[in-house]
Amino acid sequence: MADKFTIGVLTSGGDAPGMNAAIRAVVRTALANNMNVLGVMHGYEGLINGEFKSMGARDVGGILQRGGTVLLTSRSKRFMEPTGQREAIRKMNEAGMDALIVIGGEGSMNGAYALSQQGVKVIGIPGSIDNDIWGTNIAVGTDTAMNTIMDAVDKLRDTASSHQRAFLIETMGRNSGYLAVMAGIICGAEIVLIPETPVVKEEVAKAVEDAYRRGKTHAIIINAEGSDIRTTELAAMIDEMDLGFKTRMTILGHIQRGGSPTAYDRLLASRMGVKAVEALVEGTHGVMTGLRSKGIGFVPIADVINNKRKVNMEYYHMVKVLAR
Ligand code: F6P
Repeated sequence: MADKFTIGVLTSGGDAPGMNAAIRAVVRTALANNMNVLGVMHGYEGLINGEFKSMGARDVGGILQRGGTVLLTSRSKRFMEPTGQREAIRKMNEAGMDALIVIGGEGSMNGAYALSQQGVKVIGIPGSIDNDIWGTNIAVGTDTAMNTIMDAVDKLRDTASSHQRAFLIETMGRNSGYLAVMAGIICGAEIVLIPETPVVKEEVAKAVEDAYRRGKTHAIIINAEGSDIRTTELAAMIDEMDLGFKTRMTILGHIQRGGSPTAYDRLLASRMGVKAVEALVEGTHGVMTGLRSKGIGFVPIADVINNKRKVNMEYYHMVKVLAR
């Protein structure tokens, strides 16, 4: 009798809430289809080192609601090199791994593509708080991060209003302004600064001064981590210009990556995990699961890595209109 089809599953890059829900869905759907699952620890680094463990239904019990990733993750420099990839494929073959499901962001999909080019059956599941992955409307983890930001900014606004201050708040996203723009809308910011457009200091100053003139009790400025001005510099600038409000700043940092996934993320991750295994059952590979207008489908990983997901500038402009 032939050996059971064996799927490897790993999480890679920045962890994102909902990754555990995706792992759980992969394991349980595979078992339902009479397949074996090997969990790969520490992302691609663990693939190179052969850090595999067999996963049964009970191994993924109680993880649906947990942030982070039980498989642990890494940003592997070794895997970016052909020698690292070759070693990883060797370890997969030794373990009898027939296919690999990669849960991660843009960089992780580059790794997935490299493997698929070398004949490995790979399926990607987009997981990243940044939501900068082409081919899906939203990635696993983004909704939770937006809710975390919303909660934090709501709290900061309470104290900002009480003291009539301008608050500079830095969101994550070294290459993407998605979180900052969304935060601008859902938290009611005066202005957002993102990596995609150059920061015009005069525009920021005007937004703060206008808010003061209009009688606002606070001004919220959201600065994405990757914009071309540091949040400390921005705060000092506004203080120096004496625009009405005194300033304070908060860098939200890695708090945005943690926490229990929202209902939306649990559902998205579960649906994508199921779909990823279904692809392998059907004999499809070299694709990433993507949420599009017609539901969850597949996009070629080649397209994912060759296209850049852009921030919707309509949303960016909407922030200014709504800040009256
Ligand atoms: O890609 C996710 C992300 O959280 C980015 O928003 C951020 O720029 C980066 O990871 C931080 O990476 P690290 O956790 O390695 O500092």
